[in-house]
Amino acid sequence: MRKIIIAGNWKMYKTIKEAIELSNALKREFFKLDTQAIDIVLCPPFTALSEVAEAVNETGIKLGGQDLYWAGEGAFTGEVSGRMLRDAGCEFVIIGHSERRQFFSETNESVNKKTKAALECGLTPIVCVGERLDEREAGKTFDVLRSHIEGALTGLSAEDVLRIIIAYEPVWAIGTGKTATPEQAQEAHKYIRDLLHKLYNQEVAQEVRIQYGGSVKPENTAELMNQPDVDGALVGGASLKAESFSEIIKKASEVLK
Ligand code: 13P
Repeated sequence: MRKIIIAGNWKMYKTIKEAIELSNALKREFFKLDTQAIDIVLCPPFTALSEVAEAVNETGIKLGGQDLYWAGEGAFTGEVSGRMLRDAGCEFVIIGHSERRQFFSETNESVNKKTKAALECGLTPIVCVGERLDEREAGKTFDVLRSHIEGALTGLSAEDVLRIIIAYEPVWAIGTGKTATPEQAQEAHKYIRDLLHKLYNQEVAQEVRIQYGGSVKPENTAELMNQPDVDGALVGGASLKAESFSEIIKKASEVLK
């Protein structure tokens, strides 16, 4: 049994005041829902982490960072360590998002170092993988997924990988309104799960949760979550409004896995 996990990636949106308002609005919405059966994670920008942590304190809603640097501390201007994220109240951290790969030179190697650093300080990494449109059209989707997964997990043991979440985010579906069809999502998730089996063992393949991300909305949540290998969602745009994010949570919590 894999518990569904819905995470909101707020990206570079929300001032502290706006983040508190959204957190409070979400709290009011979630109060009406049975959210026991589901993990809910908010990933605000670094500047708002502490305040969001305070706002959702004792609600069961969890917190994640959007990135981290692999060193414990040091002269790395502009960077944030895993320990600092823990200190701000985070249990999770997104690693290797396609926007970081595209705009900030993130590579499989840096994703691997960050994943190890996150595990070392007790954070649950949400490792993002996914192909671009040109790669899909060239029939390279599985090759890209294999390279992202093998790259991210290099040197990690089965026990390490059991503590990781993978997010399949096809780049062509992010922020475009073009969601992968449930069949496309299932096909990619199944490929990832089979790959985990090959690289590790059956337990890892069965236990690791794989989220889908890319234009997830209330209208497409149920059919995506109903796919056997889809265990949650990493939501961008629709997580910025309390109504749409709580509607996604509601739809996801109605799916019986
Ligand atoms: P959208 O939901 O806005 O497409 O973003 C998805 C995403 O990148 C989540 O990490």
